[in-house]
Amino acid sequence: MELIEVIRKRRSIRKYKPDPVPDEYIRKIMEAARLAPSGTNLQPWRFVVVKSAEKRRELAQHTLEFVATAPVVVACCIDITAYKYTPQRIKELTDAGAFTGIDMGAFGGDEYMKKRQAMDENALRAYASLNCAISIEHLILRATDLGLGTCWVMMFKQNGVKEVLKLGESIQVVALVPVGYADQDPAPRPRLPMEDLLIQEV
Ligand SMILES: Cc1cc2nc3c(=O)[nH]c(=O)nc-3n(C[C@H](O)[C@H](O)[C@H](O)COP(=O)(O)O)c2cc1C
Repeated sequence: MELIEVIRKRRSIRKYKPDPVPDEYIRKIMEAARLAPSGTNLQPWRFVVVKSAEKRRELAQHTLEFVATAPVVVACCIDITAYKYTPQRIKELTDAGAFTGIDMGAFGGDEYMKKRQAMDENALRAYASLNCAISIEHLILRATDLGLGTCWVMMFKQNGVKEVLKLGESIQVVALVPVGYADQDPAPRPRLPMEDLLIQEV
C-alpha cells in the first residue's frame, strides 16, 4: 500500500476476530518498531509480545476488556535507564558518519550530555515515552499495511500490567497495543480542519 493509503486506512479497532496472527507478521511489525528514529538514537523502547490466552485474560483485569479479545497484545514499554547509554549511542552515530561535516555547535558533545544528565526522572520518562510513541506508531502503521487492526491503549493500571508480565523496576509500560484481524469496519473518526491546526505560515 502507498504510505498515505495506510495512514488513511488505519483506525482504532476495538473488536477483533479470534483468527491467529501469523508469526511472520508479528516479526514484521516488530521490525518496523525497531527501525524508528529516536533522540541521539537512544532506542529506549522495549516490547513484550503477549500471545498466551491465559496472560491476555490476566491483562484484561488491568485494562479495557476488548484489549484481551485480540489474539496478540504488544505491551510497549520504555527502559528508563536507557539514557545512561547516550555516549555509546552517540559514538555509534558518529562512527556511522551521521554528523560528518555537520557543526552541532552548542548541541554537540559535553554540553548536550550535561543537559541530559540534569533532566529529572519525570523529564527522562517523558522523553523516553515520546521516543517510544514513534516506534509504536511505526508498529501500528506496518500492522495496518499487513491488513491487521490495532488500537493504542493507555487506559491500563501500570502496576497490574507490570506484575502480570513480570517486568523489572527499570521498565515502564507506555501503551498496550492489541493486534488482530478487525471484526468491525469503522468510518474515519473526526479530525480538526487544517485551518485550526496551522497557527501561521511565515
Ligand atoms: C496516545 C493514545 C492513547 C490512546 N488510548 C486509548 C485508550 O486507552 N483506549 C481506547 O479505546 N483508545 C485509545 N486511543 C485511541 C483514540 O481514542 C483514537 O486514536 C482517536 O479517537 C481517533 O480515532 P482513530 O484512531 O480511529 O482515528 C488512544 C490513542 C492514542 C494516540
